[in-house]
Amino acid sequence: MTYGIDFGTSNCAVARWQPDGSYVVPFDSANVSADWYGFGGEQVFPSVFGTSETTGEAMFGWRAKLLADERADAIKRLLNGHHYVTVGSRRYTSGHVATLMFRAIREGMRRAGAELDEAVVTVPAKATGQARFRTREAAHLAGIRTLSLINEPTAAAMAYVDLIRENGRFLVYDWGGGTVDATVLDYEDGVLIERAASGRTELGGVDIDAALRQAVRSRFKNHPSWTAHHARQFRLEVERAKIQLSTEEVVTILSPAGDEVVDLERTEFEHLVKDLVDGSMEPVIEVLSDLRLDPDTVDAVIMVGGSSRMPIARRTLTELLGQEPVAQELLDPMTAVGMGAAFAAAALRQDVDDTICVVTANALGTKVRDEHGASFSTIIPRNSPLPISDGRTYVPRRPLVSEVDVEVWEGDPDRALSDPFNQMLKKLRIPYPRPTPQADARFRLDFTYGEDGRVSVRAEIVKTGVVLFDDVIDVFEENEKQSDRAKEKEAIRAELEAVFGAVAASSAPTSTPPPTPAETSPVSSRRVPTRPVPRPPTYSPPSDVAPVVLVVDGSNVAWSGRDRAAGEKPSIAALSDALDALLATFPSAEIKVVVDANLRHQVEQSEKPLVENAVQSGRWLQPPAGTIGAGDALVLAIAEITEGRVVSNDSYREFQDAHPWLRSGHRMLGATLVGTHWIFLDRKPPAGTSAAQVVTKPAGAVAHALPAGWQDSGWKSQEALAGPRRRATEAFGPVSENYYMSPLDSK
Ligand SMILES: Nc1ncnc2c1ncn2[C@@H]1O[C@H](COP(=O)(O)OP(=O)(O)OP(=O)(O)O)[C@@H](O)[C@H]1O
Ligand SMILES: [Mg+2]
Repeated sequence: MTYGIDFGTSNCAVARWQPDGSYVVPFDSANVSADWYGFGGEQVFPSVFGTSETTGEAMFGWRAKLLADERADAIKRLLNGHHYVTVGSRRYTSGHVATLMFRAIREGMRRAGAELDEAVVTVPAKATGQARFRTREAAHLAGIRTLSLINEPTAAAMAYVDLIRENGRFLVYDWGGGTVDATVLDYEDGVLIERAASGRTELGGVDIDAALRQAVRSRFKNHPSWTAHHARQFRLEVERAKIQLSTEEVVTILSPAGDEVVDLERTEFEHLVKDLVDGSMEPVIEVLSDLRLDPDTVDAVIMVGGSSRMPIARRTLTELLGQEPVAQELLDPMTAVGMGAAFAAAALRQDVDDTICVVTANALGTKVRDEHGASFSTIIPRNSPLPISDGRTYVPRRPLVSEVDVEVWEGDPDRALSDPFNQMLKKLRIPYPRPTPQADARFRLDFTYGEDGRVSVRAEIVKTGVVLFDDVIDVFEENEKQSDRAKEKEAIRAELEAVFGAVAASSAPTSTPPPTPAETSPVSSRRVPTRPVPRPPTYSPPSDVAPVVLVVDGSNVAWSGRDRAAGEKPSIAALSDALDALLATFPSAEIKVVVDANLRHQVEQSEKPLVENAVQSGRWLQPPAGTIGAGDALVLAIAEITEGRVVSNDSYREFQDAHPWLRSGHRMLGATLVGTHWIFLDRKPPAGTSAAQVVTKPAGAVAHALPAGWQDSGWKSQEALAGPRRRATEAFGPVSENYYMSPLDSK
């Protein structure tokens, strides 16, 4: 049988492929209590693991969500490293809890009469290599072979493709429990390619729940000190009320002590969450702006994730993009990802005619050091179709080489190596058979990335062909020794055996008698010293403080929505409209406009005098001619001095180190033309890097892995290479073969 698993932060969904399509298997629906029934939640399995204080019983899914006293949820957020969570008196690694979750899913499916032993599993588009690896390993330890790991938005688009079967460009907006992501994909004749993705990891349904709890609590007249049990009940009550408000105009919320009720209307609720909803639109704006795409070029807008079911989210996205998203009745936002994963599994197993192309979400490479310092040397570029194998040649820096330290890095070569997005997956100390002079020590480093997310490394001395290393990477942290890892795996296996005898019963419908404490003892009785559980970062809503000075990056706004690749020019008419709209939106603001010196040469002939007049009269500022890129610097300098806000869709990557305030979330406004209206929203540009590192992307190497036309239409826009960055390209050239790495002094 062919299955897909959406391993979500809040909910998991499992779908099965049958000859006539994907079907969700609602294997935990018997555990949904009556007051939660009917909102679509019965299709999914809450990603919650918990225990009962009194019996020590281990619980999963709906039982854990509704009944557990101690619990671990949102475990998926912690799979990007070796994190711990504490449940009851026990401390678990995040991978351990994920394994328990997968096993609980497998047991639930078994009770539903299905043997779930292999599946396509989904991960967030932005998941790091570690998160991918840990997800696959957790499934594997639970007895589920991962046919392939695919990105959630790709899976959602596949579910749509399975229904519609038409080529086109899709925008997937996925707003779930903890994160919001926007992804643009192109589908052509059976191949789906992710064009670009943007997201926020700290904005989801849980943040909406927190805002709502605060508002409702303040409206209760009695404020008794609630017990932990009351607080848990209140959380559930508020989340349920929120979900109900997606279909009803008013809900009644009962205080956990049962002595008061509060009525909440949808209009009131929408007022409360408006800022959060607006914040969820930022990735959409970013992804379109990164690709320089007009919303009109999107053929279908696919909304998935539970939070996207709120009418206000659908309305706002419709207004922003000027088109109605695909109807929920056609594609269920809670299960589309799982259904698409089942379709992908069918394609991989060749049960259907479609082929799917799984591509790498991040680049894989190694750390090199040359006279400019350490940088990311790409071996397998982002968006490479899997499976892929590629290599490059390196020369150790030491005159006599007895070993090299090879670091395997994953991430974005455009960002500084120290950027948190870039992660070292592994450091390997590879010995040479004998001390070798540098001239003979040149080695070729090959990485292989499998469809299932597995990474293998091979190192070979070029001159002699001696293989120095050839193995699969299955241990990540430097200090995580193979033997420790083996021990941990063994412990997990033993515990799975012990717990799931019990869980098989405990996750059964609520009428099943609870297991005896002895059966669950491995979960509840062992005491392990606890350490603090890392807290996820909290979302700070955009500030609505009236700006004093707005510094408009005129060139950027004039280019907004214009397709350079298609030969379009920047529009001064559009810029003027944007300035009018800005003044109407912020009537008390002082607006300063900066344009690049070459803007007047780029615009249509008829608009040239408009630019020249505005500059000559001093209404618009322009840095001296010949200083390409100085416009950006001037914009930022003015904004810094005046403590103003920058109006632009640029990320100013190479300026972020000098102006860290750019990423505070309150100092930039994005400008987007929606139909005939300009909209300005707070934005936080993605983290950037310095000029020299930007050019380490080997443009040629990326091109071979990308579909035709990709680069022309905005992979790396011309503007991104303008000014200082273009000069840097000339100065350093692209990353070459045969450049040096410093294995021993790179520590
Ligand atoms: N009808 C609804 N209206 C509003 N919110 C809803 C609705 N249904 C579910 N939600 C909310 O959606 C969130 C869960 O969404 P979903 O199951 O898509 O997340 P997830 O896939 O687990 O998360 P992620 O994709 O971030 O890993 C919860 O916060 C839940 O309260
Ligand atoms: Mg999801």
